[in-house]
Amino acid sequence: MSRAPFLVAPLDAAHDRTAFNSGSEPLDRYLREVVTQDIRRRVTACFMALAGGQRIAGYYTLASASLLLADLPATTAKKLPRYPTVPVIRMGRLAVDQAFKGQGLGGALLADALDRATRSEIAAYALMVDAKDEVVAAAFYRHHGFVALSGLPLTLFLPLATVNRVPKNGHQSL
Ligand SMILES: CC(C)(COP(=O)(O)OP(=O)(O)OC[C@H]1O[C@@H](n2cnc3c(N)ncnc32)[C@H](O)[C@@H]1OP(=O)(O)O)[C@@H](O)C(=O)NCCC(=O)NCCS
Repeated sequence: MSRAPFLVAPLDAAHDRTAFNSGSEPLDRYLREVVTQDIRRRVTACFMALAGGQRIAGYYTLASASLLLADLPATTAKKLPRYPTVPVIRMGRLAVDQAFKGQGLGGALLADALDRATRSEIAAYALMVDAKDEVVAAAFYRHHGFVALSGLPLTLFLPLATVNRVPKNGHQSL
């Protein structure tokens, strides 16, 4: 768990996005320049962890998506109906500011995303992620129980039926 208290809330325009520095320029630029348009167009939802009530310490995005049944490992696919696609929720991006890395925040944001996906009234089989690289990102997700698609090592999923649901409401503290 994180040592500092963080509040998780939907991204809003009141918070300064320019100082966010995860060490990944594409993830920082997305938060600075693109995410508000994507939210307006309803193609993504974005949640941020606030430190001290003001500073963005981390963020992640969620949107609906689907996976091809044929891309799932055979042991998983055989337990699912024979539809060509499987509904999932996609965590397109996850980033923690360098000042807050290694304190449990990335893991806590992932748990928050899993909790939101599990609580949704719209059915989804799994949370899926697109890891941006093998060494850091895919390893982080595998550490948390995610499994890669057949032949696609950077696309990983975790069935939501395996996630323990924690009752929560409104803004959440990590
Ligand atoms: C990957 C990232 C989100 C991790 O965030 P973090 O806050 O530093 O990670 P945490 O401190 O929450 O780590 C939680 C757990 O994951 C483990 N972990 C962290 N990074 C890991 C990695 N790269 N590989 C394997 N395990 C990892 C930690 O050891 C810890 O394990 P524990 O709970 O068993 O003690 C962060 O490094 C980051 O923002 N990286 C740049 C962007 C990125 O790669 N995003 C990934 C999605 S594309």
